[in-house]
Amino acid sequence: MRLKERLGRKFDEEIRFFKGWIDGPKSVGAILPTSAVTAKRMASVIEPSSGLPVLELGPGTGIITKAIIDRGIAPENLVSVEYSTDFFQHLTRTIPGVNFINGDAFDLDRTLGEWKDRTFDAVISAIPLLSFPMERRIALLEDLLDRMPAGRPVVQITYSPVSPIDARPERFQIKHLDFIVRNIPPAQLWVYSRG
Ligand SMILES: C[S@@+](CC[C@H](N)C(=O)[O-])C[C@H]1O[C@@H](n2cnc3c(N)ncnc32)[C@H](O)[C@@H]1O
Repeated sequence: MRLKERLGRKFDEEIRFFKGWIDGPKSVGAILPTSAVTAKRMASVIEPSSGLPVLELGPGTGIITKAIIDRGIAPENLVSVEYSTDFFQHLTRTIPGVNFINGDAFDLDRTLGEWKDRTFDAVISAIPLLSFPMERRIALLEDLLDRMPAGRPVVQITYSPVSPIDARPERFQIKHLDFIVRNIPPAQLWVYSRG
């Protein structure tokens, strides 16, 4: 793709993101789309050879979705839950084949529909957790871990220097995956798993 066309597309995504931010700053939770470097690092935890589907939460403009596909996950093996109907419509138009669902990540039994009883290799989440109370963050994490084999990761992006989910060492483990300066604002990546 030519540079001018690439820059044009990037600018379109930033405008779209900014529009989403005006409509609901708390539910978007960031000021610009995630950088490609961050998206690639988040997707790096996925194990394509497992053959299991991957679950993405809060795809927004789809930067992380594309990184998951580039990691070697077939679009049909990716389930991606987006709350905003505007982002959802844009995603289904621009990234064909992915199982996008327009719904609420905090209500997965209902939202996942036919995918409800599937086991996922990993969860890649950009949900703005800090906009939700701690009990809901923990309930979401435990729901996600129930849908994955032991030891597999939930990766969460945040802008806070501490984990957005409080430690519960008897229930799950927390690891700091990375701090990415090439992101606006710089991003912290956290990994949650069960032993
Ligand atoms: C920080 S933005 C993600 C940005 C994305 N990585 C990008 O680069 O475009 C958070 C996304 O989570 C979505 N979101 C917020 N609450 C949600 C929920 N309860 N269920 C699903 N998606 C949600 C927002 O609509 C938004 O698209």
